Amino acid sequence: MLNSEYIDGLNEKQREAVLYLDGPILIVAGAGSGKTKVLTSRIAHIINNSKAYENQILAVTFTNKAAKEMQDRVGKILKKKAIGLSWLGTFHSISAKFLRRHAQAVGLNYNFTIIDQDDQSRLIKNICKSENIDIKKISPKYILSIIDKWKNKGWYPEDVILKKKRNFRKRIS
Ligand SMILES: Nc1ncnc2c1ncn2[C@@H]1O[C@H](COP(=O)(O)OP(=O)(O)OP(=O)(O)O)[C@@H](O)[C@H]1O
Ligand SMILES: [Mg+2]
Repeated sequence: MLNSEYIDGLNEKQREAVLYLDGPILIVAGAGSGKTKVLTSRIAHIINNSKAYENQILAVTFTNKAAKEMQDRVGKILKKKAIGLSWLGTFHSISAKFLRRHAQAVGLNYNFTIIDQDDQSRLIKNICKSENIDIKKISPKYILSIIDKWKNKGWYPEDVILKKKRNFRKRIS
């Protein structure tokens, strides 16, 4: 082991979680009780013990701030400034990275763009204009919420066309 100072600063339960490297563990603990300390120490311990390379560790956080904090804390434990935890990030950033890497597997181009809410709204307004849809009768916000529902169901544009056609047929038959 290169350095194990990080283990000395842990309490008994934390140490148990950090030292257990033979499978998954679930940590349930209150606010400010040392969860991140366990996670960052465990990541450092996995690297220190050559159980995985830095780029083989997946760590998902809720915010960018938390991802940055974890990166810094693992770096501090390992006494390394730049560590290559390339799969430490938010749910969104990691998912986008996965998608870009394996874009072709889901029929996307690797250089796809993710548009923000303002751009989405602008795009819908432009489509409505070119399709002569009155946005006073059906608002872009409402259209976006419907598209969001379809996306959450995992529907692709062709599924929407098919399913909506079927529903329409059912309604008129
Ligand atoms: N065993 C310990 N001994 C001394 N200090 C500790 C210990 N465990 C955690 N701390 C300190 O307590 C503070 C909170 O720890 P940490 O950020 O790991 O908690 P957390 O459970 O992730 O908090 P949050 O709920 O805010 O995410 C930090 O300053 C950390 O260094
Ligand atoms: Mg935390």
